[in-house]
Amino acid sequence: MDDLIAKKSSFIGEKITLKSIERKDIDSIMEHWNTYESRIGRGIFIPESRTQREEWIEQTTKDAKQGKGFTFAISDKTSGQFLGACSLKRINTVSRGAFLSISIYNPANHDKGYGTDAVKCLLRIGFDILNLHRIELHVYEFLERAIYVYEKLGFKKTGVRREASFVAGEYRNDLIMDILETEYNDEK
Ligand SMILES: CC(C)(COP(=O)(O)OP(=O)(O)OC[C@H]1O[C@@H](n2cnc3c(N)ncnc32)[C@H](O)[C@@H]1OP(=O)(O)O)[C@@H](O)C(=O)NCCC(=O)NCCS
Repeated sequence: MDDLIAKKSSFIGEKITLKSIERKDIDSIMEHWNTYESRIGRGIFIPESRTQREEWIEQTTKDAKQGKGFTFAISDKTSGQFLGACSLKRINTVSRGAFLSISIYNPANHDKGYGTDAVKCLLRIGFDILNLHRIELHVYEFLERAIYVYEKLGFKKTGVRREASFVAGEYRNDLIMDILETEYNDEK
């Protein structure tokens, strides 16, 4: 028992804590949700209403209850400030696969180590808690920072969805990246 308690919680990183998304987070979410930079990064080109985001929060709660996916608020470990959201979703209980997504909403909070820390936590949750076999993500080829972070944490580029996205008037490639549990365990 003591050795289990001594193990680090998968939900606490060096700089961030992952918590459930709550309705009270809506003001923080909306603060940066509809900026042009934020929408380009997330592939949502039409601004979204507060009601749409509230419905998304409700949906994440339903998905978690059904074991289909888990979405977390990322908050600064010291100040508790809301930073963004990340998830493991579309969980397949046969192949033990899931899709990862992450966004730190305010660009002023990029390059401070939050994203790396949050993805590390998600990998621990995915492989050590949910017993997943493989985690996949899709990322626009032009999101160089995101790709750098994923590769740093062991994701491999496994494919290209050529011109799969139409972003700001141009077709863009999406990269497929993934990591297997064996690769994660080798890196630990
Ligand atoms: C991608 C994202 C989650 C990364 O989180 P973050 O907190 O900004 O990243 P970190 O600070 O942990 O790490 C950034 C690293 O990228 C490096 N970097 C910054 N700009 C870069 C660029 N253009 N190309 C390559 N590397 C870059 C930094 O130097 C840093 O490297 P280091 O870890 O060796 O110091 C965050 O920037 C974000 O949410 N961006 C907008 C939305 C998005 O792109 N989401 C991903 C969709 S798949």
